[in-house]
Amino acid sequence: MNDLGNNREQWGSRLGFILAAMGSAVGLGNIWRFSYVTGENGGAAFLLVYILCILLIGIPILMAEFTIGRRAQSDAVGAFEKLAPGKPWVAAGYMGVASAFIILSFYAVVAGWAVYYFVQYVLGNLSAPPEDGYAGFFVGFISNSTQPLFWQFLFMVLTVGIVFVGVKKGIEKANKILMPLLAILVIILAVYSLSLDGASEGVAFLFSPDWSKLLDPEVYLAALGQAFFSLSLGMGALITYGSYLKKEHKLPGAAVGVAGLDTIFAIIAGLMIFPAVFAFGVAPDEGAGLAFIILPEIFGDMALGQLYGILFFFLLSAAALSSAVSLLEVAVAFFIRKFDWSRKKASIIIGGIIFLLGIPASLGNGVWSHISFFGQPDIIDSMDFIASKIFLPLGGMIIALFIGWGWKKADALEHSDFGDTTLGNLWLFVLKFVAPVLIVIVFVAGLL
Ligand code: PHE
Repeated sequence: MNDLGNNREQWGSRLGFILAAMGSAVGLGNIWRFSYVTGENGGAAFLLVYILCILLIGIPILMAEFTIGRRAQSDAVGAFEKLAPGKPWVAAGYMGVASAFIILSFYAVVAGWAVYYFVQYVLGNLSAPPEDGYAGFFVGFISNSTQPLFWQFLFMVLTVGIVFVGVKKGIEKANKILMPLLAILVIILAVYSLSLDGASEGVAFLFSPDWSKLLDPEVYLAALGQAFFSLSLGMGALITYGSYLKKEHKLPGAAVGVAGLDTIFAIIAGLMIFPAVFAFGVAPDEGAGLAFIILPEIFGDMALGQLYGILFFFLLSAAALSSAVSLLEVAVAFFIRKFDWSRKKASIIIGGIIFLLGIPASLGNGVWSHISFFGQPDIIDSMDFIASKIFLPLGGMIIALFIGWGWKKADALEHSDFGDTTLGNLWLFVLKFVAPVLIVIVFVAGLL
């Protein structure tokens, strides 16, 4: 085994780290997943529970991951082995590596769709509505047995390419430019969407709760899963990123910044999608294709729509790429240390395996649409269910308990940079009791 802590990458600066963590958080989760999950779970009531999950569970566990990572200077598994040798906490690390494989497998399929749409806009194929409408076009594409595989492959090649040269060189710079551009574009599109006839219905859907929805326990599980997925939480991605951080860089502000930006992104994306959903008469619970159907509707309606389409799908693909990189990095960092592989070997082999695992996820939209597990509609949803609704919250719970109960209080306060402050003590209280109890309740209610 390597000497831990030696020859490991380091972020160039604290800002570089924050941007990388934001790049990990902001991705398909904020636009593709957030919009269809919100649509399926009734809108405003879901959004409310989602925001509570971010505040009560998400931010404290985010801080926990950063703290563990920076303290241990090791990957998701190595961090637990180093800080608590021989203890069962390391299960969270292994679950995290497994989640990285599962999530990236289907993530690359959906990201491939975004790249495909980008290219279609460049070619002008979506400047006018396709023969069987935007929904027909989408379904026709994703159910094809070979075409989506090409784009999924291309996306995985890009992801492997970045992890191959090293996370720092690979993403610190791109995030600085592309993420603000995506934010500006999403705001412009939200303003446009809000100006459409019938937009107010979409605003009401997103902000005036139908309280009866709160009686459905599945809404809570969906919100918890979305919070973990969107914040890149519960699987050691942020432990791994935190481990490339020097000791002198402060943590709490970074955690709040990442969570805040990610949530604002999702809400503005909601304001871009839902007014248009109602204006164009699409069902909000349309499912996983919602964003891919509605956005082309919006561009079709706009002056310069093709240009917006090109820009939007380019930036969405870039955002997906910086998230995919963090997923792959969890597995790659583990294999580099554990098996003494070179970074190049690890990224190519693991990237290749993940591409193969993603093939069934893609075929599940077409020839294999009859296959699914855990009562989910298709293979992507089955993979997403086990990872986002089980592994991530469970991993997050173990991480919370690890700091709350496995660390000495003084160590936790010191290594989180909180010190012995009210905020620090509140954070520990949440990790010890509040977050684990809430996660257990949501599990019990939502899964039984
Ligand atoms: N947070 C990313 C997104 O919203 C996805 C992700 C999940 C990335 C888990 C890393 C770890 O798109």
